[in-house]
Amino acid sequence: MCGIVGYIGESQAAPILLDGLSKLEYRGYDSAGIAVYDGENIRVQKAVGRLKVLSELTHDGATMPGISGIGHTRWATHGAPSNDNAHPHYNQTETIAVVHNGIIENYLKLRKRLEQKEYQFLSETDTEVVAHLLDYYYKGDPVETITKIMHRVEGSYALGIIFKDHPGKVYAVRKDSPLIVGHGKDGNLIASDVPAVLKYTREVYFIQNEEIAVLTKENIGFYNVDGEEIQKESTTIDWDINAAEKGGYEHFMLKEMYEQPRTVRDTLNPRIKDNKIVIEELGMSDEEIQAIRKIHIVACGSAYHTGVTAKYIFEGMARIPVEVDLASEFRYRNPILGEEELVIIISQSGETADSLAALREAKAKGAKTLGIVNVVGSSIAREADKVMYTWAGPEIAVATTKAYSAQLVAEYLLAVKFAQVRGKITEEEVGGFLKDLQKLPEQIEMLLGNQEKIQHFANRYIAAKDVFFVGRGIDYAISMEGSLKLKEISYIHSEAYAAGELKHGTISLIEEGTLVAAVVTQEELYKKTISNIVELRSRGAFVLAVTNAGNQEIEKAADYVLYIPQTNKYFTNSLAIIPLQLFSYYVSVGKGCDVDKPRNLAKSVTVE
Ligand code: F6R
Repeated sequence: MCGIVGYIGESQAAPILLDGLSKLEYRGYDSAGIAVYDGENIRVQKAVGRLKVLSELTHDGATMPGISGIGHTRWATHGAPSNDNAHPHYNQTETIAVVHNGIIENYLKLRKRLEQKEYQFLSETDTEVVAHLLDYYYKGDPVETITKIMHRVEGSYALGIIFKDHPGKVYAVRKDSPLIVGHGKDGNLIASDVPAVLKYTREVYFIQNEEIAVLTKENIGFYNVDGEEIQKESTTIDWDINAAEKGGYEHFMLKEMYEQPRTVRDTLNPRIKDNKIVIEELGMSDEEIQAIRKIHIVACGSAYHTGVTAKYIFEGMARIPVEVDLASEFRYRNPILGEEELVIIISQSGETADSLAALREAKAKGAKTLGIVNVVGSSIAREADKVMYTWAGPEIAVATTKAYSAQLVAEYLLAVKFAQVRGKITEEEVGGFLKDLQKLPEQIEMLLGNQEKIQHFANRYIAAKDVFFVGRGIDYAISMEGSLKLKEISYIHSEAYAAGELKHGTISLIEEGTLVAAVVTQEELYKKTISNIVELRSRGAFVLAVTNAGNQEIEKAADYVLYIPQTNKYFTNSLAIIPLQLFSYYVSVGKGCDVDKPRNLAKSVTVE
C-alpha cells in the first residue's frame, strides 16, 4: 500500500503535495517523493524515511517552485526502501513522471521487453515499467497513451502522471487501487484517500476502475478505457477530518480487519499462475524441497500462532516433521539444526528482536532460512536466505489482524507446494486446494458482514473477568489467537486450552456463567470436542461455539453458535478467526479501551 497525491492550481504545488502526503502516511512511510513542473522541466526530489525528511530537504516545499505536481509516500513492495526505488519515477528523458499505488503483476515481462528496446531501469520497482511504457507509446496525446498502457499492464494501480509537454495538466487513472479527485476553489487534486484533499475541498469524485481523470487549474475531465469522455457526479464529504484517515472506520483495527479479503487476495494471487503455485522468491529447486528433513517455524505472538496452525498443515498434508518455537525460547534451547533443516521465521515487522536473533542462530548453525515478512527491506527480510512477502500493507493497530491473515495464507501456499513437490498430494488435490484458497477472500468478506450479531453478543461480556478459548488440533491454534486478541485489547484475562487438557486442572476455574469459546472446525474431532463442551457446560460454563456450516449437531451442546462457511479442513483458521477478532474488538470498544494502542504494548518489539 502506498499513497499518491497530485495538484494543479493557483498555488505552489509542493507544499500542498507534502501536506496531502502527510494525511496518507498511514498508507506507507518508508520513503517519499514529489515531482513538480518548474516552468521548464519536471524536477523530482525524494528521501528515504518518514515524510518529514523530505519536508526538511525541500524546506516544506519552498525549494520546488511550480504550480503542478505529483507526490508519493511509499510502503515498499518491489525493492527495499531507497532513493532509487522511491517514487516518482521518470522516463529516460525526464519528460514524464509517474507515482503509483498498487502492484503491476506482469512487470518482469514488461521490463524484459522494454530492456530489449534499450530502456534502462534505475530502480527495482514495478512502477518504473509504467514510466517507460508511457514513453514507448507516447505520440503527443497523453489520454491515448494512458489507454494503451491500460491494455498492457496487469495488476492493480492508481497512477498520477505529469507530462512535460502538457504542463497545465495532471493525469490520473486507476484499477483496483483507490483514487479520488478533489475539485477545489483555487485548483484541483488527486489522492489515494479523501483526507489528503479535505483541507482544500469537500467536493470529491470517486474514480472507478479503468477511468481516467485529466485535471487542469479550473476543470476536470473524465475518460473511459477507450478514451471517450464520460460524465461523473461529485460527492460532498461531510465526515470529520480526523476520522477520514481511517476511511470512515472508528479504529485502524476495524479498518484493517475489513482489509483482510484484499490482503489474502494480494498474498495469494501473484503466486497462483495457470492453476499452479509459483513461489519464485523461494528459490528452491524441487530436489531441495524434497531434501528437507525437518521444518522449524519460529516466531512471536500472533505470528507464532500462525506457525502452530502451519505445523498441522505441513505435517498433515506434506508429511514433513515440524517443530514450532517461540523465538524467545528457540535460541536458548540449543536447537539441533543442520543444512537439511529449513527454519521459517515469521514476522510482520521483520524487526522483532527475538525472531531476528533466532534467525541468526539458525544461520550460524547452517540451516536454510526463509522469512515470511510483511515489511519489505526489514532486518529479517534482509538477513534470511530467502524471503516470501505477505502483501498486507502497513498495519497501524498494535493488535495484528490483516498481517496475521496474510501470514496464514503464505504458509498454506508453502505447505501445498511442498506437499505437491514431495508427491504427497495429487494434481487433482492441488486443484481442489487452490479452489478453496481462492474462495477465502469472499468468505472472509461474508463473515465480516456479520458484525452486528457479534457486537450484540460481545456487549454481554464487557464485564467478564475470565474467558477461555478451547479447541483441538488446528482449532487449538485458532483458540490461541482468539485468546490473545481478547486479552491484549480488552484487558480481560483469557486463556487458550487444548480442549482435552482442561480436565487436568484448569476446569476448576469454570464457574457459573464463565464464557468459553469453543472452536470446532475439524470434522474428525467434532465428537471429542463436543464431549468437552458438555463437561464445561455441566460445570456452569456458557459455551459459544464457532463451527462449520452444516454442523447443526453442535446446537444441542453449545449455548450460542457462530457458523463459518465450508472450506478445506486445513484452511478453517482463516475463517474462524474473523468472528473472534470481531468479538475482541467489540468487547474492547464496549469497555472503552484504547483499541489501536493497548496499554503496555508496542507494534514492533525490538528488545529481547
Ligand atoms: C498481537 C501481535 C503480536 C505480534 C508479535 C510479533 O496482536 O501483534 O503478538 O504478532 O509481537 O510481531 P512481528 O510479527 O512483527 O514479529
